[in-house]
Amino acid sequence: MELPPRPRYSPAMNYRHAFHAGNFADVVKHAILALCLDHLGSKDKPYRVIDTHAGIGAYDLTSDEAARSPEWVDGIGRILGADMPDDVAAALKPYLDLLAEMNPGALTEYPGSPEISARIARPMDRIQLCELHEADSRTLERRYARDGRVKVEHRDGYKALTGLVPPKEKRGLVLIDPPFEDRDELAHMAAAVMPALKKWPTGTYIFWRSLKNLWAADRFDNGLTEWLITEQGFEPEKILRADLWIRDLASEGKLAGAGVMIINPPWQLEEKLLALLPWLAETLAQGDGYGWRLDGGLTEEDVEEADAD
Ligand SMILES: C[S@@+](CC[C@H](N)C(=O)[O-])C[C@H]1O[C@@H](n2cnc3c(N)ncnc32)[C@H](O)[C@@H]1O
Repeated sequence: MELPPRPRYSPAMNYRHAFHAGNFADVVKHAILALCLDHLGSKDKPYRVIDTHAGIGAYDLTSDEAARSPEWVDGIGRILGADMPDDVAAALKPYLDLLAEMNPGALTEYPGSPEISARIARPMDRIQLCELHEADSRTLERRYARDGRVKVEHRDGYKALTGLVPPKEKRGLVLIDPPFEDRDELAHMAAAVMPALKKWPTGTYIFWRSLKNLWAADRFDNGLTEWLITEQGFEPEKILRADLWIRDLASEGKLAGAGVMIINPPWQLEEKLLALLPWLAETLAQGDGYGWRLDGGLTEEDVEEADAD
C-alpha cells in the first residue's frame, strides 16, 4: 500500500459527539473496545490505551444535545430493554457491566471511549488521551484530574500517534475514532497508522470507519490489509473487520452503517462477534436492508460449527 499524499487538514472541529452518543455505531464500537480491554486485563501485566480522538469522556443523556437528537434511544436504549441469548450476553458483558455501574438507576449517562477505558483498566494500566477540540480537552482534563493513570493531551491524535508507540508497557491498544467530517479522513487515518504499525506491530489497533461511502471504506480496508500482509508480514488472521448497518447502506439521510477494522484482535474476539453481530443487526435495525459482515480468520467450518451450537 502506498502512503497517500500528506492530506491538507482543516480542523473545522464542528463535530459534537453528544448528538450521537449511544447510537448504534457507538454500541458496536464500544462493545468491541470493552471486549478488547477485558482481554488485555486478563494477564497480570500492565497495558496502555492510546485513544487518539477521545471526545469528552462521558455524555449526559438528559442534556439538550442528547434530547434534540436522541439517537441513543434506538441504540443503547434498545439493547438494554432486549432479551438476549447467553452467547450475546457473554459478548456484551464487559460493556453492559460498566453501563450498569455508571447508571445504578435509569440510564442517564453514556460512557465515551475514555470512560470505558478508565472503568476497565486496572491501577497498573495507563490511558493516553488526545483531543484536539480545546474545550473538550479541558473537559477531559477536569474529568480525569484525580486519576493518575490518565494523561490528557490537547493535540492532534494523528500527529501524536507515531511518537506514542510503542508504549513502555509493550502491551495495549490504540483506538482511532475520528469524526469523519473531512472527506479525506481515511487518508489521514492511513497516513497516521502505517508508521505506527511499523513501529509497534504487536499492539491491538481499532479503527472506526463510517460506511457512508462504502467504496472508500472497502478501499481503505483492502489497501491496509494488503500492505499488512504483503509488506509487513502479518498473518491474515491478525486482521478482523466488523461492520453493521441498520438499513440499506444506499439510503439517504443519517448514518446507516459503521464498524471497525481491528489489527491483532484478541483471541476469540471473532467468535464472540459472530454471535453478537447478527443479534445486534436484528435488534438495532431501522429499516429494510439492514445487515452485518465479519471478515477474519475463521474458516467456513468454524462458522458452521458455531451455527450448530
Ligand atoms: C467520534 S468523536 C470521539 C468519540 C470517542 N472516541 C468515544 O468513543 O467516546 C471524535 C473526536 O475527535 C476530536 N478530533 C477531531 N480531530 C481530531 C484530531 N486530529 N486529533 C484529536 N482529536 C480530534 C473531535 O473533537 C471529537 O471529540
